[in-house]
Amino acid sequence: MSELPKSELPKSQLIDAFNRKITYMRISVTDRCNLRCVYCVPSCGTISNLPSNELLTFDEMLRIVKVAAKMGLTKIRITGGEPLVRRGVVDFIAAVNRVDGIRDIAMTTNGVLLKQYAQALKKAGLKRLNISLDTFDPKKFMQITKGDCFDRVWEGILEAERVGFNPIKINVVPSKGCNDDELVDFAKLTLTKPFQVRFIEFMPVDDWEVWKKNFISKGEMMEKIEAALGKLEPVNEKDQSGPAKNYRLHGAPGVVGFISAISEHFCDTCNRIRLGADGRIKQCLFSESYIDFRTPLRNGCEDAEVERLLCAVMETKPEAHNININAESQKLLHSMTQIGG
Ligand code: GTP
Ligand code: 5AD
Ligand code: SF4
Repeated sequence: MSELPKSELPKSQLIDAFNRKITYMRISVTDRCNLRCVYCVPSCGTISNLPSNELLTFDEMLRIVKVAAKMGLTKIRITGGEPLVRRGVVDFIAAVNRVDGIRDIAMTTNGVLLKQYAQALKKAGLKRLNISLDTFDPKKFMQITKGDCFDRVWEGILEAERVGFNPIKINVVPSKGCNDDELVDFAKLTLTKPFQVRFIEFMPVDDWEVWKKNFISKGEMMEKIEAALGKLEPVNEKDQSGPAKNYRLHGAPGVVGFISAISEHFCDTCNRIRLGADGRIKQCLFSESYIDFRTPLRNGCEDAEVERLLCAVMETKPEAHNININAESQKLLHSMTQIGG
């Protein structure tokens, strides 16, 4: 963090009740999305969009970021819904980039609008991009996302590479009988491109039975890939706080990662909190509770109140989630469009 005058030194740090240092905030800038991925949107197919006056403004988000940065926040990830559908997001990134203490700004996007925004995002100071892609087959892409835009996403990925984003992470959510026949093709991409292809264990959204039927664990995925392409060698990393465990195929420029939120959860090294588009901070992806920042901000609260609320988030962050593949049923997640993953 840069030097601050004594009067501005924060009284509190972002450290939770289990002594985890929280340095990373995921900000969902919108609950809207231009796709409807099956594993994200509830099976009824409808997602409620917040009226625009209930969305936090970019200025309100920036206020929270500035206070949190004085308390030790260093990294921001912009998510959605689909973040690139919210007008003004590029200027917001440029503003976050100017906040003292913020060293890393990243975005998770579905890539549909990436071709047109990649250059501007780079210029605004965005450091890293994670892009969702679940299949190389345009027809299957349509079935999974309800959008006919495989080509646009692929061109977006290539444009992001061309303008110099590095690393580029490709998020794949494998699901039995849907895209599990493409695990090897995705892993092969790392033999020709310097991308990090990350397989994310499917998390339960709204139908417990469907989830149990389609879930594929990290262990099963690794077995399939190694049977076809040889050993996945663990990559030694300095920063182990990310959710992915990374491996490399022999001689590959890219990396194969697994996010095993279910089979081997990584809650003990969790370093993150989530600010929703509605102005509530969720302490954990799976938690039902949250703390509302929008009301106090709109009532004209001082920074000290924002700091106090952030401390309340720290005190109530749970030790771990309790989603379990062997349970009969369990409370499920809100749609990921509302949480931003
Ligand atoms: P970097 O490590 O900074 O690249 O980001 P990331 O992998 O955390 O971000 P991304 O948005 O690409 O998330 C990938 C997947 O990991 C999504 O499905 C998220 O829901 C999941 N994920 C991210 N953070 C957590 C977490 O704290 N807990 C759980 N269970 N899953 C998470
Ligand atoms: N399980 C796992 N990952 C999911 N994502 C969305 N819904 C789910 C789910 N049910 C992923 C998207 C995106 C990231 C933010 O979250 O693929 O890459
Ligand atoms: Fe798909 Fe992401 Fe949109 Fe959900 S928010 S429908 S995962 S693109």
